[in-house]
Amino acid sequence: MEKAKEREMTGDELKSMLKSNIRFKSLGGVKHPGLRLEEEDLAWWRAAKFGMFIHWGLYSILGRGEWVMHNERIPAEEYRKLAEEFNPKAFDADRWAAIAKDAGTRYMVMVARHHDGFALWDSPGSYQDFTSVKTAAKRDFVKEYVEACRRADLRVGLYYSLMDWRFPGYFRPRELLENALLMKKQCYDQVRELMSQYGKIDILWYDGAWLAHQGHDPDAAWLWEPVKLNQMAREYNPKLLINPRSGWEGDFYCDEGSHEICGNIIPVPWEKCVCIGSGRSWGWIPDDPVMTFDDAIRMFVNVWMRDGNILLNVGPDKDGVIPEEAVARLMEIGAWMQANGESIYGTRGGPFQPVDDVYGSTYKDNKIFVHILDWERFQGMRLPAVEGKVVSSRLLGGKEVGYAQTDDGLSISVPREMADGPDTIVALELDRDVPKPQQEEISFTG
Ligand code: GLC
Repeated sequence: MEKAKEREMTGDELKSMLKSNIRFKSLGGVKHPGLRLEEEDLAWWRAAKFGMFIHWGLYSILGRGEWVMHNERIPAEEYRKLAEEFNPKAFDADRWAAIAKDAGTRYMVMVARHHDGFALWDSPGSYQDFTSVKTAAKRDFVKEYVEACRRADLRVGLYYSLMDWRFPGYFRPRELLENALLMKKQCYDQVRELMSQYGKIDILWYDGAWLAHQGHDPDAAWLWEPVKLNQMAREYNPKLLINPRSGWEGDFYCDEGSHEICGNIIPVPWEKCVCIGSGRSWGWIPDDPVMTFDDAIRMFVNVWMRDGNILLNVGPDKDGVIPEEAVARLMEIGAWMQANGESIYGTRGGPFQPVDDVYGSTYKDNKIFVHILDWERFQGMRLPAVEGKVVSSRLLGGKEVGYAQTDDGLSISVPREMADGPDTIVALELDRDVPKPQQEEISFTG
């Protein structure tokens, strides 16, 4: 990926990005018996593998990142004026959904309200009526988005920030408890609205539970009471997937940012969210360089072979238009997904542990898909032994490739001319289903 230019991410924003030293954010959330969904309720999400994340709001007008209000200490009354400029005539939720669909994603997560407090829906619970319905646009964008997702057969996710910078109680919660409780009331009211006004919601993707930008999300559980909050959300949407960033442990784990993923298969449900751009901002910024196609595929495959999901973020401009360069890249990714989707959708990571930067695998039924990321280094490597007999070995959707199977392992010989871009995929067919790896129930804390 091209390196970041100009704007440096510093201060609280940087802290936010690094708060769990990359790996999983918000570890150590409150546990509550029965609140986590069953594995079978996660099946659709695991099979979907790929989602689109959208950061869009008043900050998209300024183009200096979604943290602009806090970073530049813009007073709330001043920032509020942006709402009178926010009237995106070109916004077309069906266009977003079509782009997401063509890119090969199967669910979307739209920021319904970020830390600035501006709600993109008809929110009676909004503090001081700070909503897109009560200001210039006079539109309920969440409604338009949810309906467009359903028309496009995409699962529907909503991002919601518990905290809101407009409340001094956010920064000094113990001292200004009454004000912090007012913020909490807004949170409960708004989560109820989002969960009850728009039909079935599939994912509730929280952010920003931590208080005063200190510590971690679970440290703020004394204020938010996340178990109570999420029990309420589930009353409306019993099978709702919830991320861990409200301070409750959540249904899946979150990794965030542009860093590469390496290491072993991760034996818990997890999702990496990453920007299609430089990663300097999640909201729109002008001329943000887009990830190269090869870097994108490598990043995604590195996640899929480790049994994770990818949530790929785009930042539409103030008119709601996803920048052209991002759309072009998404279409390339979509064409690749179309050609290679059999080795991704509905698969699980494994059975082979990945060898960093060289290869890894996904599997489904009686097929193992070997993803070769570095053809040179793959030469002469022996894959671990598999149970069962390999009955065919071919490039995904293409020619046969040679293989040799012994009790000690498996070798595959892919001629150089068959190496295919960032990921050369060999489909191995076995005479039986690939055995599911034996996994203990584990969870990560602290
Ligand atoms: C980081 C950013 C935040 C963004 C989030 C998405 O925490 O600080 O603005 O919404 O990532 O996961």
